Amino acid sequence: MSKSDIRVEPKRGLDGLTAEELRASRRGWWDDLFTQFLLRWIPPDTRDVLDVGCGLATAAHALLPSLTGASYLGIDADEERLRQANALVAGTPYAARVQLQRGRAERLPCADESVDLILSSMTLQHVPDVPAVLSEVNRVLRAGGRFVGIEPNNLANEFYFDGPLEEVNAAFRRLFAAQREARRPADIAIGPAVPSILERAGLTVIDSRPYALGHVSRLPVAELLERARRVAAIASAQAERSNSAVLQECLATIDRAAAAAPADRVGYGGQVVPVFVTIAQRR
Ligand SMILES: C[S@@+](CC[C@H](N)C(=O)[O-])C[C@H]1O[C@@H](n2cnc3c(N)ncnc32)[C@H](O)[C@@H]1O
Repeated sequence: MSKSDIRVEPKRGLDGLTAEELRASRRGWWDDLFTQFLLRWIPPDTRDVLDVGCGLATAAHALLPSLTGASYLGIDADEERLRQANALVAGTPYAARVQLQRGRAERLPCADESVDLILSSMTLQHVPDVPAVLSEVNRVLRAGGRFVGIEPNNLANEFYFDGPLEEVNAAFRRLFAAQREARRPADIAIGPAVPSILERAGLTVIDSRPYALGHVSRLPVAELLERARRVAAIASAQAERSNSAVLQECLATIDRAAAAAPADRVGYGGQVVPVFVTIAQRR
Protein backbone atom coordinates (compact mmCIF):
# COMPACT_ATOMS: atom_id res chain seq x y z
CA MET A 1 0.00 0.00 0.00
CA SER A 2 1.45 3.37 -0.95
CA LYS A 3 1.15 6.46 1.23
CA SER A 4 -1.44 7.94 -1.14
CA ASP A 5 -3.72 4.89 -0.51
CA ILE A 6 -3.98 5.74 3.17
CA ARG A 7 -7.01 7.97 3.76
CA VAL A 8 -6.94 9.81 7.05
CA GLU A 9 -10.51 10.34 8.30
CA PRO A 10 -11.00 13.91 9.53
CA LYS A 11 -11.42 14.09 13.30
CA ARG A 12 -14.95 14.36 14.68
CA GLY A 13 -15.55 16.83 17.51
CA LEU A 14 -17.74 16.60 20.62
CA ASP A 15 -20.72 17.30 18.37
CA GLY A 16 -19.85 14.34 16.13
CA LEU A 17 -19.07 16.64 13.19
CA THR A 18 -15.84 17.32 11.38
CA ALA A 19 -14.93 21.02 11.17
CA GLU A 20 -15.71 20.96 7.43
CA GLU A 21 -19.15 19.43 8.05
CA LEU A 22 -19.88 22.13 10.64
CA ARG A 23 -18.75 24.86 8.27
CA ALA A 24 -20.79 23.47 5.34
CA SER A 25 -23.84 23.13 7.58
CA ARG A 26 -23.64 26.76 8.72
CA ARG A 27 -23.13 27.97 5.14
CA GLY A 28 -26.30 26.02 4.33
CA TRP A 29 -28.63 27.71 6.80
CA TRP A 30 -27.18 30.60 8.80
CA ASP A 31 -28.09 33.39 6.38
CA ASP A 32 -29.02 37.08 6.77
CA LEU A 33 -32.66 36.20 7.37
CA PHE A 34 -31.75 34.05 10.36
CA THR A 35 -29.42 36.75 11.71
CA GLN A 36 -32.22 39.34 11.42
CA PHE A 37 -34.55 36.92 13.22
CA LEU A 38 -32.06 36.63 16.10
CA LEU A 39 -31.35 40.36 16.26
CA ARG A 40 -35.02 41.00 17.13
CA TRP A 41 -34.22 39.47 20.52
CA ILE A 42 -30.83 41.04 21.15
CA PRO A 43 -30.77 44.60 22.53
CA PRO A 44 -28.70 46.76 20.13
CA ASP A 45 -26.75 48.27 23.06
CA THR A 46 -25.47 44.82 24.16
CA ARG A 47 -21.88 45.18 25.41
CA ASP A 48 -20.72 41.61 25.98
CA VAL A 49 -21.72 38.46 24.14
CA LEU A 50 -20.65 35.08 25.46
CA ASP A 51 -21.07 32.27 22.92
CA VAL A 52 -21.03 28.90 24.69
CA GLY A 53 -19.76 26.14 22.39
CA CYS A 54 -18.85 28.72 19.75
CA GLY A 55 -17.47 26.21 17.23
CA LEU A 56 -16.18 28.21 14.27
CA ALA A 57 -17.59 31.45 15.80
CA THR A 58 -20.27 31.77 13.13
CA ALA A 59 -22.30 33.90 15.57
CA ALA A 60 -19.49 36.48 15.78
CA HIS A 61 -19.51 36.94 11.99
CA ALA A 62 -23.29 37.18 11.95
CA LEU A 63 -23.93 39.47 14.93
CA LEU A 64 -20.93 41.77 15.43
CA PRO A 65 -21.48 43.90 12.29
CA SER A 66 -24.84 44.93 13.83
CA LEU A 67 -23.81 44.97 17.52
CA THR A 68 -21.22 47.67 16.98
CA GLY A 69 -20.57 48.30 20.70
CA ALA A 70 -20.24 44.64 21.67
CA SER A 71 -17.28 42.44 22.38
CA TYR A 72 -17.59 38.69 21.82
CA LEU A 73 -16.10 35.87 23.86
CA GLY A 74 -16.39 32.43 22.28
CA ILE A 75 -15.83 29.41 24.52
CA ASP A 76 -15.33 25.93 23.18
CA ALA A 77 -13.90 22.72 24.61
CA ASP A 78 -12.30 21.84 21.25
CA GLU A 79 -8.91 23.46 20.66
CA GLU A 80 -8.88 22.62 16.95
CA ARG A 81 -12.25 24.33 16.42
CA LEU A 82 -10.88 27.43 18.16
CA ARG A 83 -7.78 27.41 15.96
CA GLN A 84 -9.94 27.38 12.85
CA ALA A 85 -12.33 29.97 14.31
CA ASN A 86 -9.37 32.29 14.98
CA ALA A 87 -8.20 31.93 11.37
CA LEU A 88 -11.70 32.79 10.08
CA VAL A 89 -11.97 35.89 12.32
CA ALA A 90 -8.48 37.26 11.53
CA GLY A 91 -8.59 40.26 9.23
CA THR A 92 -12.31 40.98 9.67
CA PRO A 93 -13.32 44.55 10.66
CA TYR A 94 -14.50 43.22 14.07
CA ALA A 95 -11.49 40.97 14.82
CA ALA A 96 -10.34 43.24 17.67
CA ARG A 97 -13.67 42.67 19.43
CA VAL A 98 -13.41 38.86 19.30
CA GLN A 99 -11.76 36.68 21.90
CA LEU A 100 -11.77 32.89 21.69
CA GLN A 101 -10.91 30.73 24.65
CA ARG A 102 -10.83 27.07 25.48
CA GLY A 103 -13.26 26.16 28.21
CA ARG A 104 -16.19 24.04 29.18
CA ALA A 105 -19.81 25.12 29.23
CA GLU A 106 -20.14 23.50 32.65
CA ARG A 107 -17.45 25.79 34.11
CA LEU A 108 -17.46 29.09 32.25
CA PRO A 109 -14.22 31.08 32.55
CA CYS A 110 -16.10 34.29 33.40
CA ALA A 111 -16.71 36.39 36.51
CA ASP A 112 -20.10 36.46 38.24
CA GLU A 113 -22.64 38.82 36.67
CA SER A 114 -20.24 39.97 33.96
CA VAL A 115 -22.11 39.40 30.68
CA ASP A 116 -25.19 40.94 28.96
CA LEU A 117 -25.97 38.13 26.55
CA ILE A 118 -25.25 34.42 26.49
CA LEU A 119 -25.80 32.49 23.30
CA SER A 120 -25.95 28.74 22.87
CA SER A 121 -26.35 27.67 19.27
CA MET A 122 -26.69 23.90 18.81
CA THR A 123 -24.53 23.29 21.89
CA LEU A 124 -26.96 22.22 24.64
CA GLN A 125 -28.00 19.30 22.42
CA HIS A 126 -24.50 17.84 22.91
CA VAL A 127 -24.12 18.48 26.64
CA PRO A 128 -24.69 15.60 29.10
CA ASP A 129 -25.37 17.88 32.11
CA VAL A 130 -27.53 20.78 30.90
CA PRO A 131 -28.53 21.98 34.45
CA ALA A 132 -24.81 22.45 35.24
CA VAL A 133 -24.47 24.72 32.18
CA LEU A 134 -27.57 26.72 33.11
CA SER A 135 -26.35 27.20 36.64
CA GLU A 136 -23.25 28.78 35.08
CA VAL A 137 -25.45 30.89 32.78
CA ASN A 138 -27.28 32.18 35.88
CA ARG A 139 -24.00 32.95 37.62
CA VAL A 140 -22.39 34.78 34.70
CA LEU A 141 -25.35 36.80 33.36
CA ARG A 142 -25.95 40.29 34.75
CA ALA A 143 -29.40 40.89 36.27
CA GLY A 144 -31.73 41.53 33.31
CA GLY A 145 -29.22 39.89 30.93
CA ARG A 146 -30.48 37.55 28.20
CA PHE A 147 -29.94 33.97 27.23
CA VAL A 148 -30.65 33.01 23.61
CA GLY A 149 -30.80 29.29 22.90
CA ILE A 150 -30.94 27.90 19.37
CA GLU A 151 -31.52 24.19 19.68
CA PRO A 152 -33.00 21.62 17.27
CA ASN A 153 -35.49 18.82 17.27
CA ASN A 154 -33.48 16.43 15.13
CA LEU A 155 -36.25 13.83 15.24
CA ALA A 156 -38.15 16.12 12.86
CA ASN A 157 -35.40 16.26 10.23
CA GLU A 158 -37.27 15.91 6.90
CA PHE A 159 -36.56 15.72 3.19
CA TYR A 160 -38.83 17.14 0.50
CA PHE A 161 -38.96 16.72 -3.25
CA ASP A 162 -42.11 18.28 -4.70
CA GLY A 163 -43.76 17.13 -1.45
CA PRO A 164 -42.66 15.17 1.61
CA LEU A 165 -40.59 12.01 0.92
CA GLU A 166 -42.67 10.01 3.37
CA GLU A 167 -40.82 6.68 3.41
CA VAL A 168 -37.40 8.32 3.47
CA ASN A 169 -38.54 10.58 6.32
CA ALA A 170 -39.90 7.63 8.31
CA ALA A 171 -36.53 5.87 7.90
CA PHE A 172 -34.69 9.04 9.04
CA ARG A 173 -36.97 9.29 12.04
CA ARG A 174 -35.89 5.79 13.10
CA LEU A 175 -32.23 6.64 12.40
CA PHE A 176 -32.33 9.84 14.45
CA ALA A 177 -34.25 8.08 17.25
CA ALA A 178 -31.40 5.50 17.42
CA GLN A 179 -28.84 8.32 17.36
CA ARG A 180 -30.71 10.10 20.17
CA GLU A 181 -30.57 7.00 22.36
CA ALA A 182 -26.91 6.41 21.54
CA ARG A 183 -25.93 9.94 22.52
CA ARG A 184 -27.85 10.12 25.82
CA PRO A 185 -27.66 11.67 28.40
CA ALA A 186 -27.26 14.49 25.84
CA ASP A 187 -30.43 15.06 23.80
CA ILE A 188 -30.30 15.84 20.06
CA ALA A 189 -34.04 16.68 20.24
CA ILE A 190 -33.69 19.12 23.16
CA GLY A 191 -35.07 22.18 21.28
CA PRO A 192 -38.73 22.05 22.35
CA ALA A 193 -37.76 21.21 25.96
CA VAL A 194 -35.51 24.25 26.38
CA PRO A 195 -38.15 26.72 27.70
CA SER A 196 -39.14 24.42 30.60
CA ILE A 197 -35.51 23.59 31.32
CA LEU A 198 -34.70 27.32 31.51
CA GLU A 199 -37.65 27.96 33.83
CA ARG A 200 -36.54 25.15 36.13
CA ALA A 201 -33.11 26.82 36.18
CA GLY A 202 -34.75 30.03 37.48
CA LEU A 203 -34.68 32.11 34.27
CA THR A 204 -37.74 33.96 32.96
CA VAL A 205 -38.73 32.78 29.49
CA ILE A 206 -39.60 35.71 27.21
CA ASP A 207 -40.39 33.77 24.04
CA SER A 208 -39.72 30.53 22.20
CA ARG A 209 -40.22 30.14 18.46
CA PRO A 210 -39.62 27.34 16.04
CA TYR A 211 -37.63 28.34 12.98
CA ALA A 212 -37.35 26.00 10.01
CA LEU A 213 -33.73 25.69 8.94
CA GLY A 214 -33.19 24.64 5.39
CA HIS A 215 -33.47 25.68 1.81
CA VAL A 216 -35.62 24.37 -1.01
CA SER A 217 -34.07 24.64 -4.45
CA ARG A 218 -34.59 23.29 -7.97
CA LEU A 219 -32.39 20.23 -8.37
CA PRO A 220 -32.32 16.68 -9.79
CA VAL A 221 -33.87 14.07 -7.48
CA ALA A 222 -30.60 12.09 -7.64
CA GLU A 223 -28.73 15.05 -6.12
CA LEU A 224 -31.19 15.40 -3.25
CA LEU A 225 -31.06 11.68 -2.46
CA GLU A 226 -27.25 11.74 -2.53
CA ARG A 227 -27.43 14.51 0.08
CA ALA A 228 -29.79 12.33 2.12
CA ARG A 229 -27.23 9.48 1.99
CA ARG A 230 -24.53 11.85 3.33
CA VAL A 231 -26.80 13.05 6.14
CA ALA A 232 -27.54 9.43 7.09
CA ALA A 233 -23.83 8.57 7.11
CA ILE A 234 -22.97 11.61 9.29
CA ALA A 235 -25.85 10.90 11.72
CA SER A 236 -24.66 7.35 12.06
CA ALA A 237 -21.00 8.35 12.50
CA GLN A 238 -22.05 10.79 15.26
CA ALA A 239 -23.34 7.98 17.45
CA GLU A 240 -20.65 5.49 18.42
CA ARG A 241 -23.26 3.10 19.78
CA SER A 242 -25.61 3.55 16.82
CA ASN A 243 -27.35 0.61 15.31
CA SER A 244 -25.89 -0.15 11.88
CA ALA A 245 -29.05 -2.09 10.92
CA VAL A 246 -31.03 1.17 11.20
CA LEU A 247 -28.48 2.92 8.98
CA GLN A 248 -28.63 0.12 6.38
CA GLU A 249 -32.42 0.27 6.40
CA CYS A 250 -32.32 4.05 5.90
CA LEU A 251 -29.84 3.75 3.01
CA ALA A 252 -31.95 0.97 1.42
CA THR A 253 -35.04 3.21 1.66
CA ILE A 254 -33.13 6.03 -0.06
CA ASP A 255 -32.03 3.57 -2.79
CA ARG A 256 -35.65 2.49 -3.33
CA ALA A 257 -36.73 6.13 -3.64
CA ALA A 258 -33.93 6.68 -6.17
CA ALA A 259 -34.95 3.58 -8.18
CA ALA A 260 -38.59 4.69 -8.23
CA ALA A 261 -37.85 8.17 -9.63
CA PRO A 262 -36.71 8.88 -13.21
CA ALA A 263 -33.00 9.69 -12.80
CA ASP A 264 -33.32 12.95 -14.76
CA ARG A 265 -36.35 14.22 -12.83
CA VAL A 266 -35.87 17.78 -11.66
CA GLY A 267 -38.02 19.40 -8.99
CA TYR A 268 -37.99 21.50 -5.84
CA GLY A 269 -36.43 19.80 -2.87
CA GLY A 270 -34.37 20.19 0.25
CA GLN A 271 -33.86 19.21 3.86
CA VAL A 272 -35.64 20.99 6.69
CA VAL A 273 -35.02 20.80 10.44
CA PRO A 274 -36.87 22.82 13.10
CA VAL A 275 -34.80 24.69 15.63
CA PHE A 276 -36.35 26.33 18.69
CA VAL A 277 -35.09 29.81 19.41
CA THR A 278 -35.75 30.47 23.10
CA ILE A 279 -35.11 33.79 24.76
CA ALA A 280 -34.91 34.05 28.53
CA GLN A 281 -33.91 36.69 31.03
CA ARG A 282 -32.05 36.55 34.31
CA ARG A 283 -34.03 38.03 37.20
C1 LIG B 1 -22.79 21.89 16.69
S1 LIG B 1 -21.42 22.80 17.26
C2 LIG B 1 -22.13 24.43 17.23
C3 LIG B 1 -21.11 25.50 17.05
C4 LIG B 1 -21.66 26.93 16.99
N1 LIG B 1 -22.35 27.29 18.20
C5 LIG B 1 -22.57 27.09 15.79
O1 LIG B 1 -23.79 27.12 15.95
O2 LIG B 1 -22.04 27.14 14.67
C6 LIG B 1 -21.31 22.48 18.99
C7 LIG B 1 -20.03 23.01 19.61
O3 LIG B 1 -20.14 22.88 21.02
C8 LIG B 1 -18.87 22.45 21.52
N2 LIG B 1 -19.15 21.77 22.79
C9 LIG B 1 -19.86 20.64 22.98
N3 LIG B 1 -19.93 20.34 24.30
C10 LIG B 1 -19.24 21.33 24.95
C11 LIG B 1 -18.97 21.60 26.33
N4 LIG B 1 -19.44 20.80 27.28
N5 LIG B 1 -18.25 22.70 26.63
C12 LIG B 1 -17.78 23.52 25.66
N6 LIG B 1 -18.00 23.31 24.34
C13 LIG B 1 -18.74 22.24 23.98
C14 LIG B 1 -18.31 21.55 20.44
O4 LIG B 1 -16.90 21.45 20.53
C15 LIG B 1 -18.78 22.26 19.17
O5 LIG B 1 -17.84 23.15 18.67
